[in-house]
Amino acid sequence: MHNMDERKGFRSNLGFLMAAIGSAVGLGNIWGFPFKMGRGGGFAFLLLYLLLTAVCGFVLLLSELALGRMTSSNGVMAYGAVSRRFRWVGWVTPVTAVLILSFYSALGGYCVKYLVLNVGSLLGAPWGAAGRDGATIFASLIGNQAESVIYGMIFLLLNLLIVMGGVSGGIERFCTVGMPALFVMLVIVIIRSCTLPGAAAGLRFMYAPNFEPLRQNFLDVLKTAGGQVFFSLSLAVGTMVTYGSYTDRRQSLTKNAAVIAACGALVGLLAGMAVLPAAFATGAPMEAMGGPDLLFITLQNVFGKMGPAGPIFGILFYALVTLAAASSSVSLLEVPVAYLTDRSRLLGRGDRRRRYTLWATLVAAVLCAVTCADGLGTNGLWVPFQRFFAGAERLPVFCESWLSFLDMIAEGLLMPLCGLLTCVMVGWDLGPDAIRREVELHGNRFASYGFYRFCVRYVTPLLMLFILWGQLKNFFGF
Ligand code: PHE
Repeated sequence: MHNMDERKGFRSNLGFLMAAIGSAVGLGNIWGFPFKMGRGGGFAFLLLYLLLTAVCGFVLLLSELALGRMTSSNGVMAYGAVSRRFRWVGWVTPVTAVLILSFYSALGGYCVKYLVLNVGSLLGAPWGAAGRDGATIFASLIGNQAESVIYGMIFLLLNLLIVMGGVSGGIERFCTVGMPALFVMLVIVIIRSCTLPGAAAGLRFMYAPNFEPLRQNFLDVLKTAGGQVFFSLSLAVGTMVTYGSYTDRRQSLTKNAAVIAACGALVGLLAGMAVLPAAFATGAPMEAMGGPDLLFITLQNVFGKMGPAGPIFGILFYALVTLAAASSSVSLLEVPVAYLTDRSRLLGRGDRRRRYTLWATLVAAVLCAVTCADGLGTNGLWVPFQRFFAGAERLPVFCESWLSFLDMIAEGLLMPLCGLLTCVMVGWDLGPDAIRREVELHGNRFASYGFYRFCVRYVTPLLMLFILWGQLKNFFGF
């Protein structure tokens, strides 16, 4: 008989891995990592990044997956189930997730628009991108409030449909098809990008070892790398706790965590080979090598100059980015939805997933619409605190636009705080031994337990504290 109260998870471990890797791989890897690596010392930065992935990323990822699985709960309830003192931290997770989802969807909407533009170019339609400069296209998109909002809503609608389909029927299915497709498209784009004349400069910028930035600004580079590890592995927003709660107890958590962390780093490296050689080949200025400019101006110009094949590569590339963004944003939407459905199930009302997915999406839609209408700060919308700092020499980053403002609360404040407290909770309140018991279920081995225990109690919390400081410094500019 079909049980209404049953909590359904991923159908297979592969499906779980695809969903978790899909969550990790997103805009952060594609537009953040390559440039940060190039700026931060190339190969030298990579070593630091991998070190942080091990002592910070892997440790926290494993803790979150185990936390979810041992409690079979969403973020909110998982923290409450293991600790009285840290119960409130659980409440931070859906709030952060919805905030990130809102501005992430605004950017996702832009990706969809660029996909459409390139389809238009292929068809030779007047609404295509043909013959127009990337900067003009982008300025007219963000300046057109109605259009931006509509595309943001289209992207959110896609999320709504996937998450409504359920964990295995929606998210797992989407990611199991989407992730391999993303990989194939990435390889095609890499081949094209690396064979453009002048591409070598991009590869040199990203990969050539350069210890100078480390020598001069070690702490700066460390905090950039730390923040990146953190955001790009989708940590401290309840996502990995929630996904962990849908996994099978027979599977090895350590192996899964290692695979997810490794794939996150690998896709960052691959994304660099796809975007930077092409960006350098067009001779774009340094400032346009990262962030929204890279994706929506520099690369569109690359496709614009490629001749008849341009729109085809444009379609491939923006489809790839849209996929990467959507597989991340569904994991954000799942955080509040998991809480609401778990709660409803406990109250004996069945999961009512459809209704709650709609609610959560609507909240995100309001903030997303504001972010879109604000157009990265170009449309003169009121932004919190902007008036207050109007007299200052330089506006702090967080009040430059709605996107920065939401990002500051989420990525600047709540995420590192939640990461820090999760470590302290696991290391000192719950105790690493509880994680060990969860990992060792069904005869799985935990060979790295000594390392894990030491990190989660001492190394990771200290690094997290440092990252928190770094993020605050970034956003407030002190
Ligand atoms: N990891 C995603 C990226 O790199 C962003 C993300 C953060 C997704 C937190 C889910 C949770 O773009």
